[in-house]
Amino acid sequence: MERRVFIKSSGAIFVCTCLGSTVLSSCKAISGTSDTPIAPLDSFSLEGNEIKLDISKTPELKEIGGSVKISINNSDIKIIVARIDEDKFLAFTDKCTHRGGELEYNHEKGQFRCVSFGHSTFAKDGDALKGPAKSSITPYLIEANQDNILSINIGSNM
Ligand code: FES
Repeated sequence: MERRVFIKSSGAIFVCTCLGSTVLSSCKAISGTSDTPIAPLDSFSLEGNEIKLDISKTPELKEIGGSVKISINNSDIKIIVARIDEDKFLAFTDKCTHRGGELEYNHEKGQFRCVSFGHSTFAKDGDALKGPAKSSITPYLIEANQDNILSINIGSNM
């Protein structure tokens, strides 16, 4: 290989390598990941269209303002559950309507926020408030019973 050709091709590899690592780290920063804990596998079960979540096994939900995520194995069902008051809980599909970023619950602001670059925010009723997402996130009917069990109906979106 001629010296000039070698220098050109090795330079191209160097530029691609640098560009590749920059793009990769940028993508990571853009997509973002949520700090919201995942509910332990033994804290919930799927019974038909209903998820039964045991609050006693999810310490985050014992506190007002706490939240957890539920991920059902072998399905793309991902839900964020937040405790917004003593006896009031909310459940939404854990998917921003802009490009599918994960969500987090911010109790001080009373909003759900996408962790991705656009940081769209959503009201407690799911309505898009700010950012590139223009449509609401999907809420699920959720009820608490006296035994500290939450029932989340994933069969029919509200
Ligand atoms: S994915 Fe872009 S703001 Fe949520």
